[in-house]
Amino acid sequence: MCGVIGYIGTGVTPEFFYNGLKRLEYRGYDSAGIAMLEANKIYIERAEGKLTNLQKKLSNLPKSAHLGIGHTRWATHGKPTEQNAHPHRSDNIILLHNGIIENYKELKEFLLTKNYVFQSETDTEVAAHLLNYELKKLNNSNSVEDNMKKAIFSLVKQIRGAFAFGIICTDEPDTLYVVKYGSPIVLGIGENENYMASGIAALVDHTREIIILEDNEIAFLKKDSIKIVNFSGNEITREPITVNWSSNMLDKNGYDHFMLKEIHEQPQAVAQTINGRIDRNQGTVDLKAYGIHKINLKQIDRIQIIACGTSFYVSCLAKYYFEEFTRIPVEVDLASEYRYRSSTVNENTLCIAVSQSGETIDTLQAIKFAKENKAKTLAIVNAPGSSIAHVCDDESLIYAGPEIGVASTKALSAQLSSLLLLALGMAQEKNKKDKNYIANCLEDLSKVPSLIEKTLALSKPIKEITLKYQHMDNLLFIGRGQQWPVALEGALKLKELSYIHAEGYAAGELKHGPIALIDENMSVVCLAPKDQYYEKTISNIEEIRARGGKILSIGTEGDTSLQAISDDFIPVTKCSHIALPFLTTVPMHLFAYWIAVRRGNDVDQPRNLAKSVTVE
Ligand code: AGP
Repeated sequence: MCGVIGYIGTGVTPEFFYNGLKRLEYRGYDSAGIAMLEANKIYIERAEGKLTNLQKKLSNLPKSAHLGIGHTRWATHGKPTEQNAHPHRSDNIILLHNGIIENYKELKEFLLTKNYVFQSETDTEVAAHLLNYELKKLNNSNSVEDNMKKAIFSLVKQIRGAFAFGIICTDEPDTLYVVKYGSPIVLGIGENENYMASGIAALVDHTREIIILEDNEIAFLKKDSIKIVNFSGNEITREPITVNWSSNMLDKNGYDHFMLKEIHEQPQAVAQTINGRIDRNQGTVDLKAYGIHKINLKQIDRIQIIACGTSFYVSCLAKYYFEEFTRIPVEVDLASEYRYRSSTVNENTLCIAVSQSGETIDTLQAIKFAKENKAKTLAIVNAPGSSIAHVCDDESLIYAGPEIGVASTKALSAQLSSLLLLALGMAQEKNKKDKNYIANCLEDLSKVPSLIEKTLALSKPIKEITLKYQHMDNLLFIGRGQQWPVALEGALKLKELSYIHAEGYAAGELKHGPIALIDENMSVVCLAPKDQYYEKTISNIEEIRARGGKILSIGTEGDTSLQAISDDFIPVTKCSHIALPFLTTVPMHLFAYWIAVRRGNDVDQPRNLAKSVTVE
């Protein structure tokens, strides 16, 4: 989950690395470092904590150099200290790493017998010493670059886990070495300079021409060329893609936090995701525009949706719509648990991997498992060319734009709109719903952006309401039907942003145990819009009140009877059953956001978290 960046060219400043790492800080932010090579001298500066601590040391680096690497860390092995910060050095090798080396202990023991001295507790330092060891073993008749290639081949054969390496060899200052297996790496093409990074966001200020490095590949970057070989030594030709991200997509544009900006970008995230995929004249879904090219949806008789975190909750939400529209059984699985079941999928099962980053290793490994068991696989991702997309038969992009806040918001709305399009498209392909029904649902979906826009006005009243809740230690969230996953999402957001213990429950489940938690100290966030479950949810609210519990309800505007039995009431606009979960999710995000702000937490980079979880 770390952020890495590298440069080779005619001249680079320390600020290039610092600013690039700022763009990647959401991937990990517990320590950072930069190495630059100039006039055959290596300079390394590292710092514990946030990037700003490293900024104070930039003046110790050369004002200009032609080769360098930078890293911002999410600790896997070893505490977040300066000593454990990357890059790590082994004599002439300077190396940074995104990923995890699972067999680092046995390798470390071997290297200790070769008299290597370790300065850190990290697995990454093991890779640096092992590469140095392999390099030393080679005779010196070959060029340094040839020896480095051979040494890297030996290195990757010995390590198990996931790794993206950026490597400098001080004996060969004209090449930046990049190695990829299991962790994301992109290469950028510049004018007389080339770049590497763990995410496109770090490079959009310098180039739009991006090469996606794939697993089992090594790239040799020189200032005027990029060569790629696979671990078998075969040269690979890879066409660059042109990305349409702009710098201002990566700035807060006046918002206090990326999360608040991204909550407010939800209307356009939904609009951009459905745009061009609905044939308004026919009232149908354009499945080719959606991204279905290889999979024959007509033969699908079972669906599994695999995801983590917020992507899992939006998948649980979508299940209700898939089963309603397609009459196909749908299972939703936590990716981290999926492989522990005995797979029963076959070629008529559609396995959908839902992932904002497209790099979540749990989801990646799960969808690979599904594919090995003959399922048809579809990736719904926000990152073009991402690892999960690369594995799947088909890929459908959501067009939410870069999501920088660690807490996912606009991606959820875009993912839900994508899943609704697919569910309606499958109903259409399998003739499970009449054309008018599908056309009406698509019309309802097209109205969602403006309805979300209207709902965003709740930010102010919700900010006021959170005054009462900011110091609470526990909160429950309940909902029925589609509002149950919304309750789970609300609880997750509160946990990850405010560090308050929160649990989401199916409203009907409360009486089977959790109601024992209710007393005058427990507040319950109740999702109770006027849907088909309304009466039963009201009964649950009464059961809570009868035991002294406090009620914060999210209901349909004008519902005075719900308001009368609530301590606080948040109204959402009357809308279709297609739009409703979009609208009830907005207050969940705003509630968690404003409590986190009131508690003085780091909203965009909550403690212990990272934006993309690329370790299992
Ligand atoms: C959501 O706010 C969290 N940051 C986290 O649960 C996230 O949804 C999860 O890690 C999945 O990420 P992905 O969508 O990139 O796969």
